[in-house]
Amino acid sequence: MAPHRILFVCLGNICRSPMAEGVFRRVVAEEGLTDSFVIDSAGLGDWHIGQAPDHRAQKAARTRGIDISGQSARQVVDEDFDRFDLLLAMDGSNYDVLKARAPHEARAKIRPFLDYAPHAGTKDVPDPFFGGAEGFDHALDLIEAAAHGLLASLAGEEKVRAKRGA
Ligand code: 4NP
Repeated sequence: MAPHRILFVCLGNICRSPMAEGVFRRVVAEEGLTDSFVIDSAGLGDWHIGQAPDHRAQKAARTRGIDISGQSARQVVDEDFDRFDLLLAMDGSNYDVLKARAPHEARAKIRPFLDYAPHAGTKDVPDPFFGGAEGFDHALDLIEAAAHGLLASLAGEEKVRAKRGA
């Protein structure tokens, strides 16, 4: 598989996008494809720069066997629009802000993450920050579905490219 550079984006980079980064890293590792990916996450806001993921996000991920404790929040920077092949927004608001900020030529790289979970019944991973533990669990359910859908989609594109001999 050709290298794919994926950036998960939410508001604070302490809840949803760190969980998405952790889940997608695991999905990719399970398929033995770690070396084919660059995976990162970032936030639109600057409030939590340098912080580890929210302890509730860490706990919810740990319950599913995923350790995200080593991550450190950072803010989206202009170079991200060049460095990554796909910038995946956790909700519609994140999507709108990213799209407005992106240089014209990078706009097509920005997608709602839940486009890859068409059966989820929603386009948004709801922000769990101001709620309880169940919000983190629900977010993880959506994220896991989209993470599998994303890998399947990329693998499908790869097959088409290989068939074309590209
Ligand atoms: P996230 O959640 O975007 O999933 O990381 C949030 C974290 C912090 C804030 C908002 C959302 N905040 O307002 O500080």
